[in-house]
Amino acid sequence: MMSKVKDPKLAGEGRQKIEWAESRMPVLMKIREQFSKEKPLKGLTIAACLHVTKETAVLMRTLRDGGATVGLCGSNPLSTQDDIAAALIEDGINIFAWRGVNNDEYYWCLNQVLDLRPNITMDDGGDLVATIHSKRPDLLKNIIGGTEETTTGVIRFRSMEQDKALKYPVIAVNDAYTKHLFDNHWGTAQSTLDGIMRATSTLLAGKNFVVGGYGWCGRGIASRARGMGCNVIVTEVNPVKALEAYMEGFRVMSMAEASKIGDIFVTASGDRDLLRKEHFQAMKSGAILANSGHFNVEINIPELESLSSGKKPVRPNVEEFRLKSGKKLYLLGEGRLVNLAAAEGHPPEVMQMSFANQALCSKYIKENKGKLEPKVYGVPKDIDNRVAQLALQAAGIQIDSLTAEQKKYLESWEEGT
Ligand SMILES: NC(=O)c1ccc[n+]([C@@H]2O[C@H](COP(=O)([O-])OP(=O)(O)OC[C@H]3O[C@@H](n4cnc5c(N)ncnc54)[C@H](O)[C@@H]3O)[C@@H](O)[C@H]2O)c1
Repeated sequence: MMSKVKDPKLAGEGRQKIEWAESRMPVLMKIREQFSKEKPLKGLTIAACLHVTKETAVLMRTLRDGGATVGLCGSNPLSTQDDIAAALIEDGINIFAWRGVNNDEYYWCLNQVLDLRPNITMDDGGDLVATIHSKRPDLLKNIIGGTEETTTGVIRFRSMEQDKALKYPVIAVNDAYTKHLFDNHWGTAQSTLDGIMRATSTLLAGKNFVVGGYGWCGRGIASRARGMGCNVIVTEVNPVKALEAYMEGFRVMSMAEASKIGDIFVTASGDRDLLRKEHFQAMKSGAILANSGHFNVEINIPELESLSSGKKPVRPNVEEFRLKSGKKLYLLGEGRLVNLAAAEGHPPEVMQMSFANQALCSKYIKENKGKLEPKVYGVPKDIDNRVAQLALQAAGIQIDSLTAEQKKYLESWEEGT
């Protein structure tokens, strides 16, 4: 077993947090129980590139108990929790991750994990697949499939598929209902506000809160910000989404307009440059800028720097940019996922569903070895439904089932008025 983390002595603290997460992730724990007995991943090596959080640790232990050899690196330079990484060494995970890696270190860690010669890749943002295809094609022959956790990764893989560049099957875990409907929506919503509050300690009530992008993440952030008493403004490029936000009661306008009145800005679009030079120039002094999309390109930081005469850290995860005009703007978590840089990521109750899909999709890939084509696949419906059933069961909720008459009625077309 191999590893490199910040400080192995942090393991005790990490272990406590992982145990706390386990106590709140009954769905994944149920799958672990089954995996421990049946060992469905026996003989497989899984390379994972995920945010190294307590919830991810629960997934790593589940894959290990399912019989897999597991390697893990962080999927973002600021999202690794060092105590969790330390605890995972004791769990027998080949882990290469610490908070604050630079670009070279990021790819060094990723390549250490790839050196395990994986059979399955588990991505959050697509960096394993991209590196294998562009730099390490020799690894392709061992690989039977991969999974992808987030919207941005799925978009990358769909482009690869379209260009006929994708060389092995990937399951878009993000697209499971039990993933994006909950994780992207409720998870990102709560953890994004959590990140902003921990970083700034600012009062949200009464603030003009601008959300860039009204997709699964954006709509959650907007609704939770409204719940905290913010005046929420949404910006969009998609007319249907913009109309939806308007009907939901949010103010919708261009970023050019929003930038003049916003107190807090959060981007969550998977796109680049939502906040750029002309917007920084229009902003009020004191405005707070955060991003919850996957990469750090939604806020154009080089342009912010070019407008500034200086910058300095003023609190953990808060950097003050002094503009040449004398105005001050505050950037959170270096423009990286604020919920992971400044808070702990999504709550365990949400991550258990995303990661239940990850665990069951790994098993599915093994069971279907050789049968899947080099394409992006959705999560099989029965896995999605099973995860929902387990989550309802864990919450002690019973639902109705169709009577024979109802089933017949729903399947027929003869009955009308
Ligand atoms: N922070 C987290 O923990 C977390 C969790 C899940 C997903 N994500 C990431 O968040 C991003 C968004 O994911 P999603 O599932 O909400 O995607 P989505 O596709 O559902 O929504 C994105 C929205 O942004 C809009 N958009 C695109 N360009 C825009 C622009 N220039 N201005 C305004 N709006 C624009 C699109 O029209 C779309 O409605 C992705 O990068 C995804 O990987 C982050």
